[in-house]
Amino acid sequence: MYLAPLVQVALSALLVSAVSPTRTFSKRQSTAPSNFVTTKNGQFFFNGSNLDFVGTNAYWLPTLNSEQDIDNTLGNISAAGIKVVRTWAFNDVESIPENGTWFQLIANGTTSINTGPNGLQKLDTVVRLAEKHKLFVLLSLTNNWNPQPLLDNTTAGVSIQGRDVTPGTNNTLPRNTLSNDYGGMDVYVREFAKGSHMHDQFYLNPTILSHFTNYTTQIVSRYVQNTSVFAWEIANDPRCNSSLPASTICNTTTVTQFHSTIAQHIASIDPNHLVSSGNQGFFCADCPKLFPRVVPPPQTSATPNNRRRAAKPLTKKRILEERKAAQKKARKLQQRSASPAAGGIRIRGRWMSTETKRQNTEDQGVGSAFDGSQGVDSEDIINIPQIGFGTFQLFPDQNSYGVNDPTIPAFNNTVNQGLDWIRRHAEIGTLFNKPVTLNGFGLVTQSNAPAFVPFNTTQAPFGPDSPTAQAQQPFGVTDQQRDDAYSQWLQAGLQSGLQGMLQYQWSQGNLTTAVGTDITPTVVGTGTSPVVTGTGLSPNDGYSLQGVGQAQVQGVIQQAAQAFAPDAR
Ligand SMILES: *[C@@H]1O[C@H](CO)[C@@H](O)[C@H](O)[C@H]1NC(C)=O
Ligand SMILES: *[C@@H]1O[C@H](CO)[C@@H](O)[C@H](O)[C@H]1NC(C)=O
Ligand SMILES: *[C@@H]1O[C@H](CO)[C@@H](O)[C@H](O)[C@H]1NC(C)=O
Ligand SMILES: *[C@@H]1O[C@H](CO)[C@@H](O)[C@H](O)[C@H]1NC(C)=O
Ligand SMILES: *[C@@H]1O[C@H](CO)[C@@H](O)[C@H](O)[C@H]1NC(C)=O
Ligand SMILES: *[C@@H]1O[C@H](CO)[C@@H](O)[C@H](O)[C@H]1NC(C)=O
Ligand SMILES: *[C@@H]1O[C@H](CO)[C@@H](O)[C@H](O)[C@H]1NC(C)=O
Ligand SMILES: *[C@@H]1O[C@H](CO)[C@@H](O)[C@H](O)[C@H]1NC(C)=O
Ligand SMILES: *[C@@H]1O[C@H](CO)[C@@H](O)[C@H](O)[C@H]1NC(C)=O
Ligand SMILES: *[C@@H]1O[C@H](CO)[C@@H](O)[C@H](O)[C@H]1NC(C)=O
Ligand SMILES: *[C@@H]1O[C@H](CO)[C@@H](O)[C@H](O)[C@H]1NC(C)=O
Ligand SMILES: *[C@@H]1O[C@H](CO)[C@@H](O)[C@H](O)[C@H]1NC(C)=O
Repeated sequence: MYLAPLVQVALSALLVSAVSPTRTFSKRQSTAPSNFVTTKNGQFFFNGSNLDFVGTNAYWLPTLNSEQDIDNTLGNISAAGIKVVRTWAFNDVESIPENGTWFQLIANGTTSINTGPNGLQKLDTVVRLAEKHKLFVLLSLTNNWNPQPLLDNTTAGVSIQGRDVTPGTNNTLPRNTLSNDYGGMDVYVREFAKGSHMHDQFYLNPTILSHFTNYTTQIVSRYVQNTSVFAWEIANDPRCNSSLPASTICNTTTVTQFHSTIAQHIASIDPNHLVSSGNQGFFCADCPKLFPRVVPPPQTSATPNNRRRAAKPLTKKRILEERKAAQKKARKLQQRSASPAAGGIRIRGRWMSTETKRQNTEDQGVGSAFDGSQGVDSEDIINIPQIGFGTFQLFPDQNSYGVNDPTIPAFNNTVNQGLDWIRRHAEIGTLFNKPVTLNGFGLVTQSNAPAFVPFNTTQAPFGPDSPTAQAQQPFGVTDQQRDDAYSQWLQAGLQSGLQGMLQYQWSQGNLTTAVGTDITPTVVGTGTSPVVTGTGLSPNDGYSLQGVGQAQVQGVIQQAAQAFAPDAR
C-alpha cells in the first residue's frame, strides 16, 4: 500500500514519541498493602501501590502441549513489560476429545469437570507459572461465541450460518485454534434448552444458570487464595445474540440482570478477587437502568492535576452534539493538510460499504455501539455493586464505534472512532469512580487478513481457501498503520485515565506440537520422505503479532507498558 513519504516521516516520529509521557493525570496513591488486587478511588492497587498496566491476550495458554511452552510464553510476555494476561478459564466439550485440553463435558443432560492433567491442572500450571514470571492472569469464565459446523440449522426452523464444511475450505482448523472454539454459552443452550435454541436462554433458563454457577463455583473456589489471579471475568463479550439468535424479548435488562446474579454469586464464594464483566462496552444512552447512578453532591475540591475530562452522563443528545463538533474539527484539519480523502490512506476498515456522499449525523442516529441494540448497557453493568471495574473492547474490523465522516480517510475514521471510544469509557470510569480496562484491542493487517476469522464464524472470509475471498475487496491495514493506531490508542488510554489496556493477541513461536491439539505438526513436502515439524506457532485468528513487523509492534506495546507502569510489580 502506498504511503506518501511525508506521512511516513510523521508516522515514525509518532511511533517514537507517542506513548512516552508517563501518566500525570492524578497523583499516584497508595493503600494498605493487600495480597490481592483491590480498587480505591477508581484505581487498582496491589501490595499497597497503584497498579496500571498494559496486558495481552492468550486464550490458548492452557492448551499448550508442554509446561516448558507455557513457561516460555509467559516468560516472553513478562519480558515485554506486560503485567496482565487474559486467558480462557473454560473449555467446554460435547464429547471427550481423544487429545488436547478440556475442562467441562456438557452432554446427556448433565455436566462434569475434568480435574486431570489435561483438565484444570493445565489451568493450575498457567496460574503457577504466571506467578513465577510476576504476571497476573485475568480469567474469563465463558464465551458468548461458539459457532458450530452446520449443526444449528437443524433446530427451531431457524437458518443459522455455521462453519462451511464444503471440501477445500478450512473447516478443519484444529480444535481450540479459534477463540470461539472453546465452548461457551451456546453449548449450554444446545444441551439444556433444546426446544428453544435461543442464545438468551443462557441468561434466563434456571437449569442453565444452575449449571453455569456450579462451574463458576468450581473454578473460582479453586483460586480463592491465589494472588496471581488479577480478577474474574464473567464472560467474553456477553450480549443478546450469538451465532444462535436472540429472542425478541432479550434486552439490556436481561444481560445486566444476569451480570448481577453471577457477580453476587462469585462475590459470595470469593471475597478476595475483583469481578468484571468482559462485555464489549456497548452503551445505551437512554435505556432504563437497573442500577441507576446516584448523583453525588457537588465536589468542592477536585484533585489537582486531574486531567480526566469532566465526567458527564451519556445521553443521545450529547453524543450527537459531540460528534458534530468532532466532524467539524476533522474537516478543518483536512482542509489545512490539503490531502483529499479520496487519494489519501485508504483501508477497507469495515464490512459496511463506503459512503459516497456526506451524511447527516443526526439522520444516522447514535449507531449500534450506543443504542443498546446488542443488548448491552455497559454503564448499567459497571454500576452493579459487585462489579469491581468496567471493561470494554475495541475491534473496528468487527464492530462499528461511531459514524464514519466521509470527508476524512477511512483509516482516520477507524483511529478516531477508537480514540473516542477509549475516552468515553475512561469518562464512564470517572463517573462511577471505578477503574476501566480495555480487555482487547486489535486491527487486522493485510498480512494477517488470510487468517482472520470473525468471532461469529469459523470460516476465514479472506483465507486462501475461501470461495468468496476473490470476490472481496483487499482487506486490512498496513503494519505501519496498525502500529500508528495502537500508539494513538495506548496514548489516549494513558492520558484519559484508563487503568489497563490489553492488546489482542500474543504470538509465540517454537511451541511443541502434538496431533489433535491446536499446536499441530505440519507436514512439509510429500512423497516418500515428508518431514513433520516438531514446533509450531501459537493460534492466530487474525490479530496475532507474528511475522513481518512483529518487533516494531512489540516495541510500541513495550513502550506503552513502561509509560503505564513506571513502578513495576
Ligand atoms: C510487597 O511490597 C513489599 C515492600 O515493597 C515487597 O517487599 C514485597 O516483595 C511485595 N510483595 C509482592 C508480592 O510483590
Ligand atoms: C522466550 O521463548 C523462547 C522460546 O520461543 C525461550 O527460548 C526463551 O527462554 C523465552 N524467554 C523468556 C524470558 O522466558
Ligand atoms: C450419552 O449417552 C449415550 C447413551 O447412554 C452414550 O452412548 C454416550 O456415550 C453418552 N455421551 C457422552 C458424551 O457421555
Ligand atoms: C444445514 O444446512 C446446510 C446448508 O443448507 C445443509 O447442507 C446441511 O445438510 C444442513 N445440516 C443438517 C444437519 O441438516
Ligand atoms: C457476523 O457479524 C457480522 C457483523 O455484524 C455480520 O455481517 C455477519 O453476517 C455475521 N456472520 C455470521 C456468520 O453470523
Ligand atoms: C449445582 O450444585 C448444587 C449444589 O451442589 C446442586 O444441588 C445442583 O443440583 C447443581 N445444579 C445442577 C443443574 O446440576
Ligand atoms: C496459585 O495457584 C497455583 C496453581 O494451583 C499454585 O501453584 C500457587 O502456589 C498458587 N499461589 C498462591 C499464592 O496461592
Ligand atoms: C426486557 O428483558 C426483561 C428481562 O429479561 C424482560 O422482563 C422484559 O420483558 C424485556 N422487555 C421487553 C420490552 O422485551
Ligand atoms: C490521518 O491519519 C494520519 C496518520 O495518523 C495523519 O497523519 C493525518 O493527519 C490524518 N488526517 C486527518 C484528516 O485526520
Ligand atoms: C487453510 O489450510 C491450509 C492448509 O492447511 C493452510 O495452508 C492455510 O494457511 C489455511 N488458511 C487459513 C486462513 O487458516
Ligand atoms: C525459535 O527459536 C529460534 C532460536 O531461539 C529463534 O531464532 C526463532 O526466531 C524462534 N522462532 C519463532 C517463530 O519464534
Ligand atoms: C491423538 O494423538 C495420537 C498420538 O499422537 C494420534 O495417533 C491420534 O491420531 C490423535 N487423535 C486425534 C483424534 O487427533
